Amino acid sequence: MTRLVFFASAKMKREIEDLLKVAKEYEIETSSDLENFRIKFLVKKGLINQLLQVFKNLNGDEKKRWGKEFNETKISIEQLYIDAEVKLRKKEISEVIHDDLPGYFNEMGSRHPISAALEEMTAIFERLGFSVAEGPEIEDDWHNFSALNFPDNHPARDMQDTFFVEDEIALRTHTSSVQVRLMETGQKPIRSIMPGRVYRNEAISARSNCFFHQIEGLYIDKGVSFSDLKQTLYNFVQEFFGPNTKVRFRASYFPFTEPSAEMDIFLGTETESDYRLTKGTGWLEILGCGMVDSNVLENCNINSKEYSGFAFGLGVDRIAMLKYGVKDLRTFFNGDKRFLDQFISL
Ligand code: PHE
Repeated sequence: MTRLVFFASAKMKREIEDLLKVAKEYEIETSSDLENFRIKFLVKKGLINQLLQVFKNLNGDEKKRWGKEFNETKISIEQLYIDAEVKLRKKEISEVIHDDLPGYFNEMGSRHPISAALEEMTAIFERLGFSVAEGPEIEDDWHNFSALNFPDNHPARDMQDTFFVEDEIALRTHTSSVQVRLMETGQKPIRSIMPGRVYRNEAISARSNCFFHQIEGLYIDKGVSFSDLKQTLYNFVQEFFGPNTKVRFRASYFPFTEPSAEMDIFLGTETESDYRLTKGTGWLEILGCGMVDSNVLENCNINSKEYSGFAFGLGVDRIAMLKYGVKDLRTFFNGDKRFLDQFISL
């Protein structure tokens, strides 16, 4: 009996050692090698379970003696399988990734052409002594209309033109609302520009949008005259469009200025886009302006006998179209990267 056990025991030791050796030396290069390894060692009829049968024939003491070693061998072989699988998967992934190819670069963003035009215009007015102010885009009726001398039944208040948020609160339809806010602060003199986005309930087309950008200008002091207004705007046009740019003033009407005018610059009709932009006249309207109406001054607690001033409101988007040769206003705002990438140098 003792001899038999001894033999069984010696056999067990040898078989455990052999099994581990064979498993360790097994070469796994491909997925099918891996599968063959699994079939050879790990399945129900595989070598590990065959050794388990030998183990089962041992008596109690011998089982105690070899149990631990048998289990560790089993775990080692399973681990060999897991390691080989991980290695194979990594190899497969690296073959797909091609780490010798150049990586993806984080591309530089660019300034939006409208922002670039706004900044360039702002810089010119700053050189002329204007400071920059801002106001809210959601505005109350007082700042957008009433203080600016719009009669109660004025068509500009109509639902057709204005996006109302609630009764008496709307998206500002022009940056003139910021004029009122500035005058209400009581500071004088005022010499400011107010760039920003404005909203109007208009049909969207190549030439008009339901929102656009303006630069408002306001100069309030003692003895400000219409010639100050003209000179300021001449200076701006010469700096922005070039020294030989022709301009004209046309008499116009705004509730908040008296007298009022619109200013056009001459583009001519030689190119197709100039023809289109100017509707065949050669002239492009770029701003509205005038002397601040005395009612507006009084609404903002400024003594109109003592102070006078001028204001203007410049349309930025149309000027940016002109400057960058953009034919359709909508392309500024549809977020197409191919369009925006053209302005990367701005
Ligand atoms: N707010 C006017 C508009 O949007 C422009 C303007 C501004 C006119 C200041 C006169 C003075 O059309």
